[in-house]
Amino acid sequence: MSKKILLSGVKPTGSPHIGNYFGAMKQFVELQKDHEGYIFIADYHALNFIQNKEEMEKNIVGVLLDYLAIGLDSNKITIFKQSDISEHTELAWIFDTLTTMPYLMRAHAFKDAEAKNKEISIGTFNYPMLMAADILLYSPDIVPVGQDQKQHVEIARDTAEKFNRIFGKGNQIFKLPEPMILENVAIVPGTDGKKMSKSYNNHIPLFATEEEIKKCVMSIVTDSSGGVPQNVFAIHKLFRNEKELEKIYKEKEGKYKELKELLIEDIENFIAPLREKRKEFEKDIPAALKILKDGGIKAKKIAEEKMKEVKAQIGVIL
Ligand code: ADP
Ligand code: TRP
Repeated sequence: MSKKILLSGVKPTGSPHIGNYFGAMKQFVELQKDHEGYIFIADYHALNFIQNKEEMEKNIVGVLLDYLAIGLDSNKITIFKQSDISEHTELAWIFDTLTTMPYLMRAHAFKDAEAKNKEISIGTFNYPMLMAADILLYSPDIVPVGQDQKQHVEIARDTAEKFNRIFGKGNQIFKLPEPMILENVAIVPGTDGKKMSKSYNNHIPLFATEEEIKKCVMSIVTDSSGGVPQNVFAIHKLFRNEKELEKIYKEKEGKYKELKELLIEDIENFIAPLREKRKEFEKDIPAALKILKDGGIKAKKIAEEKMKEVKAQIGVIL
């Protein structure tokens, strides 16, 4: 039986945090063992946020090193960069012609951007169409993401269905993907108890130094309920068995400083080896870039095939 296909991506908008890791990236590593996988760097999506050459370059290399440091293995999985595969933007255009404005105006990300900012770029508005193209070109069965991306995967499904209906004549040109969201880490909370996010400044970087870990943990807001500092506990359970933690938190009831010190120790034990691995990969950036380039060559073949099929269906190949 052929392996199931997995696909996901991360935007190069800065260092990842433990919410990105537990919510999505960890699953990439676990699933690479028994899936055919495509994991990419969503640089064209990031262009909505990063419009500076040096910063973009630095961030792309950053995500690549992050991927390698957490254990993505190019012998098992294809690692590539979105902008290397022009079929992504090409297919996004075709999807733009099938999708209506009112439909995209219902997207959460658009509504959030609209609430904050009156001048929304077309790129921000069309974000879900590029994401639908990212996904559908590779016919994945599953797309591991955090809860905040669920709607985007649903939009990709709707778009696939619409294309199949209009052009497929009963054939399934695009496979319908399923989001894969793990319930207990769907929304990893930050130091203030809200969703961990770079933009809320409540995050713990995945490759934090010991000093940074201390600073972040000490800043956790200690609202308690029944003597248990909920925000500390919610982060702690990512690093230690929940039953074991409940016992410890009971024994140390009210001793917030001690509990935070234990959390610092647990996070440091988890992050230290990742930091070391990242440093190793950082020593040979050309080797890392070669992985990205080779991955691009493999991904391009799949995307080209699919695009040929799509072009034939819409009637532009004579
Ligand atoms: P951010 O939201 O911090 O800008 P990204 O948009 O780059 O992060 O997200 C990369 C992946 O991490 C996505 O699959 C996203 O759903 C997931 N993710 C982001 N924040 C969290 C969180 N707090 N909890 C769980 N998953 C998350
Ligand atoms: N939008 C995703 C995020 O903000 C990143 C992304 C782009 C993605 N294309 C994708 C994730 C395709 C999964 C599949 O995190």
